[in-house]
Amino acid sequence: MFKKDFVWGVATASYQIEGAAYEDGRGLSIWDDFCKQDGKVFMGHSGDVACDHYHRYKDDFKLMKELGVKNYRFSVSWPRLIPNGTGEVNPKGIEFYNNLIDSMIENGITPYMTLYHWDLPLELHYRGGWLNRESSDWFYEYAKVIAENFGDRVKYFFTFNEPQCFIGQSYSRMLTQAPGIRYSNGEVVKMAHNVMMAHGKACMALREFSKGDVKVGYAPTYCYWYPENENDPKEVDASYEKSFKTELDPNGFGWLSAWWSDPVILGSYPEDGLKLYGKYLPDTWKEDLKVMCQPLDFLGQNIYNGTEGHLDENGNFVDTKRYDGFPRTANMWHVTPNALKYAAIHLYRRYKLPIYITENGLCNQDVISLDGKVHDPQRIDFLNRYLIALDEAIESGAKVDGYFQWSFMDNFEWANGYRDRFGLVYINYQTQERIPKDSAYWYKEVMETNGEKLYEHLK
Ligand code: NOJ
Repeated sequence: MFKKDFVWGVATASYQIEGAAYEDGRGLSIWDDFCKQDGKVFMGHSGDVACDHYHRYKDDFKLMKELGVKNYRFSVSWPRLIPNGTGEVNPKGIEFYNNLIDSMIENGITPYMTLYHWDLPLELHYRGGWLNRESSDWFYEYAKVIAENFGDRVKYFFTFNEPQCFIGQSYSRMLTQAPGIRYSNGEVVKMAHNVMMAHGKACMALREFSKGDVKVGYAPTYCYWYPENENDPKEVDASYEKSFKTELDPNGFGWLSAWWSDPVILGSYPEDGLKLYGKYLPDTWKEDLKVMCQPLDFLGQNIYNGTEGHLDENGNFVDTKRYDGFPRTANMWHVTPNALKYAAIHLYRRYKLPIYITENGLCNQDVISLDGKVHDPQRIDFLNRYLIALDEAIESGAKVDGYFQWSFMDNFEWANGYRDRFGLVYINYQTQERIPKDSAYWYKEVMETNGEKLYEHLK
């Protein structure tokens, strides 16, 4: 059962919704640059206008309120606040986020702020980005500005969103994310190390310079393994081990769970990972762990899908073959509710921190029907299945404190541009009209009934 004060919410991110990319002194980010390069983003789309939330936030929060949303995870654009990444602060940026936060609060919405959702100031990229050892100090300075200006009204913070993606997919592996430049494994391991240093320093800054008592977490991601036979404790254990293993990835470095969370939460790099990648760490790595590992109030985690596995006749844990016609979302991701269940179970087992699911949702080919509405039964069914699975995780002892659906509204889906729709609210990008989809009304009832609505189909 979801606890009485379970945090139900929705999520977005700055570059994906704000627009106003060239207004009021905002500096450029690596995404502004990436979108201009040929062939990087679907149909040459960009976040220049996006959902125009920069100008429409008041109406958006009114709509959120109407749709029963009480908790909202959003991110700050670093280059809007500090155009060059370090140094001069943009007063218009401060004003915008002050207004945004005040407007949320006026509408009864609790802010959950993410510091970094991928829009690195372009200027910092030119200075070496995350490979520069100074990057953790840049981030500390940015976190200090945030704490001093917003830490009186914002109580909940997440430092980084999905480092697996903004490092792994951006500098290694598929290169589908900005800046999309290949670096060697040695360099990428150092970047990851610097990001975790930045996380640690930001935790310190948020706690030191915020006026009130703030709660700080982290929001990585992963596709966890779950057991085919849930009643077999050995198979459950094997799925746990597999989920936190560090294996060599022929495509590059970065798609890992323990590597990104053990240092930050447990104060150590995983042993199996050190055997593979330890040689690339800076000489100071053992000392650095003390900076990275700051007490956290909760662990955020973005979960979309995962892989089922079982023990074969030799006792090896192997992936279970997916049957023909296995359900997928519109961007071809598999529909695997138990990935959410076991993400919560495995993560709580390893880290013993309260968990917030900071993102979960599906991409769908939503259209405006002849009746003028947007019907999205696929989204309702997906969310219903995943949330029942999350409830099961809670039943089995995982401490889950909240869930943020991705996303409140359709938005700029990175390299897939506006092709992929994840929103509860449909955006007509020609007119900027907002149309709540059927799922928005359904989710409203889920939140209002604290999850009871999920079991309506059994009645
Ligand atoms: C993860 C990212 O944090 C978010 O920005 C993205 O839109 C969703 N997943 C969907 O791909």
